[in-house]
Amino acid sequence: MRVVLTADADALPPLVLEAPLPDEGRRAIAGEWWYRAWAERDSAARYARLHAAMQALDAPQNLIDGCRRAGFDEVRHADICAANARRFEVPDPFADRPTPAAPLGRGDLSARERLLYEFTAFGCVTESLNASLLLETHDRATEPGIRGAVHGLLADEVQHARLGWAWLAWSGQQGDVGWLAQHTPAMLQAAASRNLSDSEALCARWALPALGYLPQADRVAIFVRCVVEVIAPGLARFDVNPEPMLDWLEAQAWV
Ligand SMILES: [Fe+2]
Ligand SMILES: [Fe+2]
Repeated sequence: MRVVLTADADALPPLVLEAPLPDEGRRAIAGEWWYRAWAERDSAARYARLHAAMQALDAPQNLIDGCRRAGFDEVRHADICAANARRFEVPDPFADRPTPAAPLGRGDLSARERLLYEFTAFGCVTESLNASLLLETHDRATEPGIRGAVHGLLADEVQHARLGWAWLAWSGQQGDVGWLAQHTPAMLQAAASRNLSDSEALCARWALPALGYLPQADRVAIFVRCVVEVIAPGLARFDVNPEPMLDWLEAQAWV
């Protein structure tokens, strides 16, 4: 299912637009793709850090290898997103933005707990949301280059989510993971701001599913559906109570 694209914008087909796209719209959609390129670079840095931390624990080799592969995937994703963004001929507003890939979770967690927190927050939650968003984006994108780019990301993001669930499963065999439940609202909060808040104003005006830019209402619907149908049941399967997460979701004004 993987589509290999190069980072060379010249290798991608020219943009195929169904209607003229004014400068502001061009900047909005290019900005979305540039933002994705930055987020992929940040994810690559995160997986590199997680890979090093996993090696310090007695973790299964297949999970360590999976994390290493995920890091390489994210580097390739960043190239794909940047190549797509370049087709809009708009400079990268995130070119100088650092990629801190800051550790997630409270600082008082042990190294093992911190790793479990991060794989749950980033793998089970964020990567599952990424995969759901990309699936719908792919279904609705009609511009050939963008559809190909999304196709190239989608299968990998599904694998990255699986890595998170596999880490949770393995951790559950080593000891109690139920303590994660109290942290799930914070995990969702962080994922929501990453998925839903960025470029909100421009999104409301320029969302064009044909170009891989979904309207805010659709993003919210995808987010809620993924939490209720994928993430909450997945957590429950590994004895992490999903109720705090679902209560948080229900309390959000934007739902
Ligand atoms: Fe990615
Ligand atoms: Fe990913």
